[in-house]
Amino acid sequence: MHQLRLLQKCHGAYRRLSSSANTGPLEILGAHHPTDSFTNVGPSILSKIPLRLHTQPGHPLSTLRSIIESHFPTYSHLSSFSPLVTPFKNFDELSFPKDHPGRSPTDSYYINKNLMLRTHTSAHEVDVFGRGEDKWLLTADVYRRDEIDASHYPVFHQMEGARLFSADKASMKELEEDNEYLERVLEKSNIIIEDIPHISPSNPVQETHDPVHAELVAKNLKLSLNSLILRLFGGAASNAEPLRVRWIEAYFPFTSPSFEVEVFFRGKWLEILGCGVVIQSTLDTASMFYSCSSFFLSTGFYTLYIDVKNKIGWAFGLGLERIAMILYSIPDIRLFWSTDERFLSQFKPGDITTTFKAYSKFPSCFKDVSFWNAVAAPLHENDFCDLVRDVAGDLVEDVKMIDSFVHPKTNRSSTCYRINYRSMDRSLSNEEVNELQKVVVARLIDEFRVEIR
Ligand code: PHE
Repeated sequence: MHQLRLLQKCHGAYRRLSSSANTGPLEILGAHHPTDSFTNVGPSILSKIPLRLHTQPGHPLSTLRSIIESHFPTYSHLSSFSPLVTPFKNFDELSFPKDHPGRSPTDSYYINKNLMLRTHTSAHEVDVFGRGEDKWLLTADVYRRDEIDASHYPVFHQMEGARLFSADKASMKELEEDNEYLERVLEKSNIIIEDIPHISPSNPVQETHDPVHAELVAKNLKLSLNSLILRLFGGAASNAEPLRVRWIEAYFPFTSPSFEVEVFFRGKWLEILGCGVVIQSTLDTASMFYSCSSFFLSTGFYTLYIDVKNKIGWAFGLGLERIAMILYSIPDIRLFWSTDERFLSQFKPGDITTTFKAYSKFPSCFKDVSFWNAVAAPLHENDFCDLVRDVAGDLVEDVKMIDSFVHPKTNRSSTCYRINYRSMDRSLSNEEVNELQKVVVARLIDEFRVEIR
């Protein structure tokens, strides 16, 4: 998934030279936060924070959340965690290396050096395990600086799910029985699953784990998710081709072994989730929190203490927009933010069989901008996209780099981007688009000191 993809990306160290966003304190969810040289959130992102689409009744993301929650009825269902977290929670607590590219301000949104917008729901794993929760789902809005196209939006929604087991004989026996039951149910389904070994040299068991236990837990993870996938997509595949699902090896700093799941839908493999066996240090940290808080809560007669340390478990994180786009045939991720009744009225609570009917496709209008970069490191694409999103909001459909080269003599680099403007609800006039483009160009010069060609 994204955190994995980030590892493979190349990152410029470029930082904004000035920004209207980082002048004074920022008011977010009723509190004031100081800004500093790390601040890179603008009004367009800040305006999304209070919306919490995953909790809005009737919204397709909220409907999908309820459907998944009802598939795991015995789990705690959490959805009110604040998106403001420390980089420590988002990264360090989950064993991200210090030089992980996801930490860069080109990839993540910072309020200031010590406060950021979570990039994934895994940021709450330690807190939730630390409360002593063994089976839980947590849904939340997450924020990432990224490219702009029909399936990428800087704010999206994830659901984290996790289950812990006691690493003793009796619990492992129960787990084995649970696995057998789930296997029997799946055998009767119309779903074709391309599997890989639960554990392999490139996807290893953790040192502190009994390989037999880790194998059972990884198997339970796969069976639990396969049955969820069948529940969600089984209907779509029932009269036609059987549903195809494939498991692939992955890497996350906070799970081992780790996997990703892709579903074959409309001729393409689509990645829908990342998951794995929780790294033991996450549970060790959670256990410390739990024993500290229970010490303070203790009445003097007894101390609450759950030893998360002697547990083993799995976790997954799935992208709700991705799944909803597949389920309901929603063609553009911006639609989730639409307040247009023509969009919202198409989804009925609890329904996963709706097929979205486009009310209209309004004409698009593209504008190019080419410039010489100011410094040796070229302007990062995510910085460019963020600026465009800040100016044009949801009127921008996609942004593509169409040319880039380095002048052989002067060594200066030049880049050309094509911005495609299109509204989801109305026709845009050429004048309106020209105005937007003018502001993009002016801010490019002002904030990144580029020279327009
Ligand atoms: N947090 C990961 C991501 O956003 C997904 C994940 C969750 C992976 C839980 C493993 C376990 O890419």
